[in-house]
Amino acid sequence: MSRKDHYYNKAKQEGYRTRAAYKLKQLDDLEDVISPGDTVVDLGAAPGGWLQVAAEAVGPEGTVIGVDLQRITSLDEHDDRVETIRGDMTEDRTRERVVEAAGGEVDCVLSDMAPNMSGEYSLDQARSLHLARQAFETALELLGSGGDFVVKVFEGPDTAALKTDVEAEFQYVRATSPEASRKESSEIYFIGKHRLTAPVRPGDELEVEIVDVGTEGDGIASVEGFRLFVPATEVGDVVTVTVDDVKPNFGFAERID
Ligand SMILES: C[S@@+](CC[C@H](N)C(=O)[O-])C[C@H]1O[C@@H](n2cnc3c(N)ncnc32)[C@H](O)[C@@H]1O
Repeated sequence: MSRKDHYYNKAKQEGYRTRAAYKLKQLDDLEDVISPGDTVVDLGAAPGGWLQVAAEAVGPEGTVIGVDLQRITSLDEHDDRVETIRGDMTEDRTRERVVEAAGGEVDCVLSDMAPNMSGEYSLDQARSLHLARQAFETALELLGSGGDFVVKVFEGPDTAALKTDVEAEFQYVRATSPEASRKESSEIYFIGKHRLTAPVRPGDELEVEIVDVGTEGDGIASVEGFRLFVPATEVGDVVTVTVDDVKPNFGFAERID
């Protein structure tokens, strides 16, 4: 039995609208992007396989907002937690509607958007990259600190640059092709884990004042309210440091003076 048959039949048996539902399950298993109670935005959500998986993963306390050019028929079993918007994500007004529906920061932005296939790979790939960039912009607008981002893109010469750009905004990025993707498909997914909203990045060099001491004895500097741990310092020291590691809510730096 081919992989296509396997996931197609499985989706029919288990009541998912698309075989793609298993891609999201596999991506979530890999990097744990959706948790109970989360608010999730799903771009390119029709006909709704990912919406079903996301609705199950967020549970009764969570919310899922699905957006697509196509109308998404109501998900009866999860109607209480799924909202759908019909619109084009390349248009500002759709983005504004999504921001309004979210009503604040969200925990996860997913994009499975894909262009209508022309059959000419370089054109389809360029369109896919454009949609992925739109999704990335939306993710930066919506995700709170520590939030996760999943985006599909067709592989091509510019996808490495997209990955680099995503890497600058998240703690790390994983590129993966889930088992449920068709073997002949050139799609890959980038998973950006833990959105960084910190005012510093690894490698930055700056002068800081130590204002506190952590439980392990490291000095703590505050950079625009972001806590940076600096070993071998004391309160009152003013030191030059290089930033080693940045987490969503704190970072580590080493004194270099
Ligand atoms: C592969 S399908 C998504 C399947 C979905 N994840 C599921 O499991 O049901 C890609 C979707 O992206 C949508 N799409 C493409 N361009 C879009 C755009 N500019 N704005 C919103 N949706 C778009 C298409 O209409 C299509 O429904």
